[in-house]
Amino acid sequence: LADARLTEADILADPVAKIAAVGGARHPSIPLPIDLFAPGHRNSTGIDLSDVATLDATVKAVNAPAVKPAAATADVASLVARAHAAFPAWNATPLDTRASVLEKLADLLEQDRERLMAILVQEAFKTIPDAIGEVREAADFCRYYAQQARARLGSVELPGPTGERNTLHLEGRGVWATVAPWNFPLAIFLGQTVAALVTGNTVVAKPAPQTPAIAQAAVELAYRAGVPRDALLLAVGGPDVGQTLTEDHRIAGVAFTGSTATAKRIARTLVADDDRPIVPLIAETGGINAMIVDSTALPEQVVADVITSSFRSAGQRCSALRLLLVQADVADNVIEMLKGAMETLVLGATGNPATDVGPVIDQAAYDKLMAYRASMVTQTIKTLDAPADGLFVPPTLIRLDRVEDLTQEWFGPILHVATWEAGTLSETIAKVNAKGYGLTMGLHSRIARASEVAESEAAVGNLYINRSMIGAVVGSQPFGGEGLSGTGPKAGGPHYLYRFCAERAVSVDT
Ligand code: SER
Repeated sequence: LADARLTEADILADPVAKIAAVGGARHPSIPLPIDLFAPGHRNSTGIDLSDVATLDATVKAVNAPAVKPAAATADVASLVARAHAAFPAWNATPLDTRASVLEKLADLLEQDRERLMAILVQEAFKTIPDAIGEVREAADFCRYYAQQARARLGSVELPGPTGERNTLHLEGRGVWATVAPWNFPLAIFLGQTVAALVTGNTVVAKPAPQTPAIAQAAVELAYRAGVPRDALLLAVGGPDVGQTLTEDHRIAGVAFTGSTATAKRIARTLVADDDRPIVPLIAETGGINAMIVDSTALPEQVVADVITSSFRSAGQRCSALRLLLVQADVADNVIEMLKGAMETLVLGATGNPATDVGPVIDQAAYDKLMAYRASMVTQTIKTLDAPADGLFVPPTLIRLDRVEDLTQEWFGPILHVATWEAGTLSETIAKVNAKGYGLTMGLHSRIARASEVAESEAAVGNLYINRSMIGAVVGSQPFGGEGLSGTGPKAGGPHYLYRFCAERAVSVDT
């Protein structure tokens, strides 16, 4: 959290004490999971979180969710109608006021961080470091977009001949649909939504069906921060609700994070009717993300960054490493060290500060990943034991013969490894590019020329050199991909807000 000045290293070094520090007056000796789920911390669906202090209870509570029923599709139309009616007044609200609302929301997120973290742990199976990071990222999005809005939006005078006044106005387009994923159900949900709001749009926001409670908590805080009730409305439900929402001709733009297939379906929906206005789609989807390691890389650093990139968040980040490509000369050594490092991973309750890898998000994800893992058993070179009760997919390392053998994204703690021959860096990058995705890529090398080659040849939105490949920082590492990985503009970057705006140029002959 911004004002707590916690680094990732701090949190991982001593989670209980550090989270106590985040919590201000809390005493470090109080066992953290109990503390987080203290009585009175009811989530927005009315669950008393003190009932779910253990993993088993958490899994059961989430698998029998106390979430709201899906909004009927008729309700979606009425939500859009309300947001549509609220648009003129919100768009006319001074830019500075809208930016101040985002800053107030950032403050409220930080003040309410323990309750938000508890919901993230319970509903989205976030580990505690991930829950801290997510609240921090949500607050960062609010502050960054407020600052960007003040710096970049509004009206600017443009040059022209004497006697002519040219002005460019940037304002809201209307009602945006924001469609968020379950893996960052607070940070991405709010990032999309506050970007739309600060630019003058009103929003109908659809959280993932797995994570409505954290979305509802975020929306309640947005109202407290000063967002008018009809300027931000929550549409809870599954794909049918998303479909009805994006089919509505009053929707003036869609910001989506999720699968490539769903992004394409939304794109088709937006152009399906001839009489529909042409509206923007911002899509951030998945990737078959690779890390390339050469023989000059420091093996200890490589292994630490691979573990973080592949297995943190149970591999459920769109940025996560899926395919490790090690130069053949050093592959045996790196793989042996990696297998040893995997042994140290702790699988377990996400409310427990010691946990590195928690359960995956739901039964469908679990079944799909476990079936794939079973199909690859003859190529599996390392896996772990998992607790029997719960949706734990054991971290697994699978050996592939060729870069081309990985043809789809497996959204979980499953890492593939293959080798490449010295002198073929460009060809190896080209093979990864040829998969058609373009989200993240990593390179570990101490050869300056290798970094230059990767910088000019890797067709990805986010290239990470000699570090991990996850955890893009708002304002420093604008995040988002190209090709099958999405459209941009990049979240947390200086160009994001423009896509939410209508641009109107006015020329007056004075
Ligand atoms: N922004 C996240 C990361 O960088 C992924 O969605 O890890």
